[in-house]
Amino acid sequence: MKSQYSYEIYSESGQLARAASQRWAELARESIRGRNSFHVALAGGSTPKPVYHLLQQEELEWDKIHLYWGDERDVPTDHPESNYLMVKEALIDHVPIPADNVHPIRVQADIEKSVEEYRQVLDTVHRSSDGLPCFDLVMLGMGDDGHIASLFPDSSALTVANTPVVSVYVEKLHSWRVTLTYPVLNAARNLMLLVSGETKAPIVAQVLGGNGEEKYPVQKLAPQGRAEWYLDQAAASQLPELT
Ligand code: 6PG
Repeated sequence: MKSQYSYEIYSESGQLARAASQRWAELARESIRGRNSFHVALAGGSTPKPVYHLLQQEELEWDKIHLYWGDERDVPTDHPESNYLMVKEALIDHVPIPADNVHPIRVQADIEKSVEEYRQVLDTVHRSSDGLPCFDLVMLGMGDDGHIASLFPDSSALTVANTPVVSVYVEKLHSWRVTLTYPVLNAARNLMLLVSGETKAPIVAQVLGGNGEEKYPVQKLAPQGRAEWYLDQAAASQLPELT
């Protein structure tokens, strides 16, 4: 296993979501105690959605919490496929977070304009020593091709090192995405990777088992902070110590 990773396995995805939401709340409290704010980049996809629902129940100082997104699809913010809309419906509409603390990626017809605007939005996040936005927490899901955020296999975005956010055309989806880049993901104080389902099991085994060539985007992560994997039994089913 890569030494920077720790992981927990939950018997089913509901338990995974509960543990992840409790950890999210704990990290928010810790960050607010230490730095008086909590800046978090959220993930899209189905695995984190129940986590957002469960966060409604947490007593948190929402006025000190700032929500950002790790990636967004090429759709307006009111589109059913929007990552922002998913979090809005699951969480934002149910908690007293000020509108000014919510920072969606607004994808427009001119996608480079969206990227430039988000780059400016990211200026509100603390900086790491090398000048990058340093999130208190970045949440990530993982696709069954090993993509994280919208860093897909063979994508031009995989080698971007000089800017925190880029647009990228995803061949297999025939569509554009906007995504944070590795340097920002790596600079986060905390990373939570939420992975459920059997189709992810071979990649989970390869990443956490620590052998084999590097062929998936998730393997290019090199977190500088804490990085915790939340797995359900199905996703963990091919880990060497379990087989
Ligand atoms: C998105 C993502 C993406 C997602 C993975 C895993 O916009 O789709 O942010 O990176 O997290 O595809 O998604 P699931 O949890 O649905 O498998």
